[in-house]
Amino acid sequence: MNCAEQLVEMFGSQADVARAFQLDRAVVHNWVKTGYVPVRWAGEVERITQGRINAVDILNEASAKNPVRVKSRPNDAPFGISPENQTMTQYAPAKRITSFHPPQRTLMGPGPTEIHPRVLTTMSQPAIGYLDPVFVEMMEELKSLLRYAYQTKNALTFPLSGPGSVGMEFCFVNMVAPGDKVVVCQNGVFGGRMLENVVRAGGTPIVVEDKWGEPVDPQKVEDALKKNKGASVLAFVHAETSTGAQSDAKELTRIAHQHGALVIVDAVTSLAGTPVKVDEWDIDAIYSASQKCLSCTPGLSPVSFSERVVERVKKRKDKIHSWFLDMNLLLGYWNAGARTYHHTAPTNSLFALHEALLLIREEGLENSWARHRRHHVALKAGLEAMGLKFLVQEEYQLPQMNAVYCAEGVDEAQVRSRLLSEFGLEIGAGLGPLKGKIWRFGLMGYSCRPDNVMLCLSALGSVLDDMGYPVHVGDAESAAHGAYAQMHATDAQRKKRAA
Ligand SMILES: Cc1ncc(COP(=O)(O)O)c(C=O)c1O
Repeated sequence: MNCAEQLVEMFGSQADVARAFQLDRAVVHNWVKTGYVPVRWAGEVERITQGRINAVDILNEASAKNPVRVKSRPNDAPFGISPENQTMTQYAPAKRITSFHPPQRTLMGPGPTEIHPRVLTTMSQPAIGYLDPVFVEMMEELKSLLRYAYQTKNALTFPLSGPGSVGMEFCFVNMVAPGDKVVVCQNGVFGGRMLENVVRAGGTPIVVEDKWGEPVDPQKVEDALKKNKGASVLAFVHAETSTGAQSDAKELTRIAHQHGALVIVDAVTSLAGTPVKVDEWDIDAIYSASQKCLSCTPGLSPVSFSERVVERVKKRKDKIHSWFLDMNLLLGYWNAGARTYHHTAPTNSLFALHEALLLIREEGLENSWARHRRHHVALKAGLEAMGLKFLVQEEYQLPQMNAVYCAEGVDEAQVRSRLLSEFGLEIGAGLGPLKGKIWRFGLMGYSCRPDNVMLCLSALGSVLDDMGYPVHVGDAESAAHGAYAQMHATDAQRKKRAA
């Protein structure tokens, strides 16, 4: 069904569509007859259908049916090849968009986050070779900035080329040999992915399950390790993005070591948002992702490994199953000394990560953690003033990932869609068993700002009010202002006492 027909079905008749758009009925009749809605109506269709038909669908359909001819270009292309007749054009549908310019969005979902202008500028600098001495020097600095972010002296600390999932896979393919027993904790989506990795690496998983929305229970982990002597690895997610729950990485690592197991820690959402102290907590292997609290472009996965892990991987008798992710092969490129080609590094993304880490260094990690907490407290005050309840108990709540039960009696998908189309604000939906039940409000990295908190509360209040949910518009904002004021007062008192 094309978009014109969908509109008729949605509104009941061509006359009803014409009424909704304040148009003559003949115009709508023409849309149906030609099989497309002209592109100038794209935004209006998305607005009037409240996102049920996207502007981009109108755009694509109109472009395919009625391609634009760029009149300023001569019809005769060089060498007598007319663009319309090129054999290759059959593979590319006619496009109206000749250069992509994404809209400005406020990103308050589970990631990616907004990117600081300084990082965007750095990313658009000229490309250089990945063995260029200037690039190599920048990478050395990048590694030390990552050591700062992870609070570690681990020599093997570097960004993998690939998203967080690559970091996860890197840990498992290198640290789990076929037959190895691995205790893997599951309290959300990403623990489930870890489990999948154990199985694919040929390991024998021992699953410790906790309810979604709760942290990993250290007692259950201890029991599993006691029961399964010789388990070589304990794997868990520090900050479960699918629920907003934080587990006690320090305690879980202590228990693992007591039973002779190494740990693999997923710090994708925690790094730079809440404390991650690799050396102090004695973590063996850890991975994160560039697009969460580091606020960089997606596609890089910072990892760090202790000497224990490097030694264990070096001693493996079998060949690591993945060529690209073989730690021993990558050491030649990322370790200091003469660099050899391994793969073509994503240079401009790495410039961006360097700049994003510099911003964190300038702010100071502790200040970054405190900023995430401060804006979480204000957002929470506002959401609760609207009557929304948090999924996670207060002491385990992640400041950077706020999951609340959806308001009852409203279509939750429509709320998200209206926030996006009317306010340019993206929030996250629930995953797995929490699909349709929760909203996830991210406050990560550069997106974690007071203007975003206030926009989010007022946009949500306005949409909910419009949809008939009983909220008093303005209550949420005033609760957030109150929370900020109280925090300022407490800070001022603390400073006065310290002086
Ligand atoms: C906790 C956690 N682990 C792993 C991943 C996978 O990261 P990516 O999407 O960058 O591959 C995510 C992504 O959201 C995550 O939140």
